[in-house]
Amino acid sequence: MNPAEQQEEPVCDVISGLRAPIKTLPVRLLYDARGAALFEQITAVEDYYLTRAELALLAATLPQIAERVGPNARVIEPGSGAGRKTRMLLGALAAPATYVPIDVAENQLADTATTLRDAFPGLEVLPVLGDYTSALAMPTSAKQFATTLAFFPGSTIGNFEPSEAKAFLARLGQMAGPGSMLLLGADANANRDELLRAYDDSEGVTAEFDLNVLAHLNSAHGASFELDQFMHRAVWNAAKSRIEMHLVSKKNQTVTVWNEAVTFARGEPIVTEHCYKHSPAALEAMLRASGWKVLETFVDPDQRMRLWLAQR
Ligand SMILES: C[S@@+](CC[C@H](N)C(=O)[O-])C[C@H]1O[C@@H](n2cnc3c(N)ncnc32)[C@H](O)[C@@H]1O
Repeated sequence: MNPAEQQEEPVCDVISGLRAPIKTLPVRLLYDARGAALFEQITAVEDYYLTRAELALLAATLPQIAERVGPNARVIEPGSGAGRKTRMLLGALAAPATYVPIDVAENQLADTATTLRDAFPGLEVLPVLGDYTSALAMPTSAKQFATTLAFFPGSTIGNFEPSEAKAFLARLGQMAGPGSMLLLGADANANRDELLRAYDDSEGVTAEFDLNVLAHLNSAHGASFELDQFMHRAVWNAAKSRIEMHLVSKKNQTVTVWNEAVTFARGEPIVTEHCYKHSPAALEAMLRASGWKVLETFVDPDQRMRLWLAQR
């Protein structure tokens, strides 16, 4: 079997990204088993305020949100992760019927499904292992549900390029169905110093998370990256209102990814993630353009993290 046949994951966007004038990698590659565990560690880091702020905002607003959603809902969640926020949401909803977590991190997805089945007996849990940037079929529910709530917290919407974000939100609406609701959490912070601390924390956990993408490429794509020859860097791109995570080559070097030789100049970056910080006006326009009508927004006391409740 040649290497391309042995690959565990689609390789085309990896190679095309590394051949591009500005080298990029798909965000999903950050989340192998170790990456998923490191992301959980990031959420506990002092400098990474996003999870703390969103958890507090959810705790304060979920009773109101649950009332608007009503009983017997199906919840679908792209990028479900460890499911901590989901647990709060399901606990607040009246008799949720079905939960559909969608994620690429296989072990974490299975663990989250088991934990939630144990915590909510009677809840139907239908995990979908897959890439939410491509079209995914919804699993058929054996239960009747009254409405569907798409849950997309974590500011993960910021990982999409703006035009892709609109297309994704429209696709999510189609997956969820007519009349469905959306609860989306997004960070609108534009404070450079706070953001640089959050995405290059003093404990070095984000750096470890970012560099792990190279270890993932080595194991899943037969690559030959030397991890100590790259360094993590966070950059605030004010013109684009986004944080960029870069892995910067420490020297001139050539790396093999499958049979492809990829050359790096000293100081050349690979962009591993964009985190757009959309202003509330920009996010509202994006939701409207993708078929979602905003019903209500909730903002944290620091005016950074917002929850958006919308309906199709
Ligand atoms: C920033 S974390 C957010 C996790 C959780 N929703 C939260 O708010 O804490 C992003 C999650 O999306 C998943 N993910 C990233 N890219 C993905 C993709 N293309 N398809 C499916 N899941 C993806 C990751 O595995 C991870 O669980």
